[in-house]
Amino acid sequence: MNYLSESELIRLQSDLAVRLKRAKDRGYQLNISRGNPSPEQLDLANPMLSLPGPSDYISKDNIDCRSYGIVDGLFEMKQLFAGILECPVENIIIGGNSSLTMMHDALFRAYQWGASASTIPWRKQGTIRFLCPSPGYDRHFSITELFGFEMLPVEMTQDGPNMDQVEALCLDSSVKGIWCVPRYSNPTGITYSHEVINRLAQMETANDFRIFWDNAYAEHHLILEPDPLENILDACIKNGNEDRVLMFASTSKMSLAGAGVAAIGASSANIQDARTKIGVQTIGPDKINQLRHMIFFEDLDGLRNHMHKHARILKPKFDLVEEILQRELGEKNIAKWSKPKGGYFISLDVPNGCARRVIAMTEEAGVTLTPAGASFPHGLDPNDCNIRIAPTFPSMEDLGRAIELLAICTQLVAINKYLGKTDN
Ligand SMILES: Cc1ncc(COP(=O)(O)O)c(C=O)c1O
Repeated sequence: MNYLSESELIRLQSDLAVRLKRAKDRGYQLNISRGNPSPEQLDLANPMLSLPGPSDYISKDNIDCRSYGIVDGLFEMKQLFAGILECPVENIIIGGNSSLTMMHDALFRAYQWGASASTIPWRKQGTIRFLCPSPGYDRHFSITELFGFEMLPVEMTQDGPNMDQVEALCLDSSVKGIWCVPRYSNPTGITYSHEVINRLAQMETANDFRIFWDNAYAEHHLILEPDPLENILDACIKNGNEDRVLMFASTSKMSLAGAGVAAIGASSANIQDARTKIGVQTIGPDKINQLRHMIFFEDLDGLRNHMHKHARILKPKFDLVEEILQRELGEKNIAKWSKPKGGYFISLDVPNGCARRVIAMTEEAGVTLTPAGASFPHGLDPNDCNIRIAPTFPSMEDLGRAIELLAICTQLVAINKYLGKTDN
């Protein structure tokens, strides 16, 4: 934008103000703040609503799913997650509907009883610090905050967390964990490189340090040839650190977001420890829901075919956002944004100090975005530049309107910044 003269900027500003007013007059009420699946995506799983049916309650290995028991889940369900998490079937525990609950509970077990049988509970070790690659997933940060742990932001690069920072911080033994969304990270959409994964597996850490490997978007590709993802459990085993990683996934955004199935995968010792404690917490998970999922998906190929149907709904939405951002902001040198190959988000960076104002202006025009700073620990974006776009839920029409408004507001706030004026 700095290539425009002041008078050209003022002309552009007044054109944009007219467009903004026109949009405001239309009285839109659009919300693109959370990464929820759209009704069309949820419809794909509607046949599940009548499964397993009145007489189908026996699993392939002859378990009566109506009753208690089988604390770590049906074998066939474990096989499915073994494929998703790329880990041996014996090293999987199936939980309830939410992987976030499983992450919370894993963190709680380390806090209360220690990360392993031979280590001191985190609650007895004074200040506990967690590495929070940022921008990242706000709910990871909320869990960390709930436990009173100190959050140490780490820069996110195109390859994953900045490993020079991570390695340096991990030399402090009060650093006990790191949050990772390794594939199509929330919100930047990047997939961790082999190098990052190997360095995570190798680096020096406290012996009760854990990587919370939230593979929420493991199967959520927008393209046919997904980026490869190095197997972190194998890398940890190779480096003699097999207990370092706890891997999580769920079918929340594959089947039904409120009624999916979640799982954890980890080393045998970690799984044994978790299974014992989960066995006190519950007499068994919802095996009917597991059965329903297995009848519906059948196997990993079936699940992947189903995810192609999701991609066919989602890809045009991501393309639309890209098209509008490119058209409105492309040559102006005021913003950059991610072009993810999967996942649920697009991350938009506006000029430093402008995100809060852009979001507020967009909101005044009727479009609710994820609050500024939400993707950073304590909700504080140090540069006030990051905006998370969640294109999945709205219709194409609503999404187009919302992104155009966002682009108009981005330009207006940027022009005001260049002209050294406030816009309110
Ligand atoms: C990175 C990430 N992890 C976990 C979740 C929630 O997963 P679940 O529904 O299995 O609790 C989400 C939902 O948006 C997410 O983006």
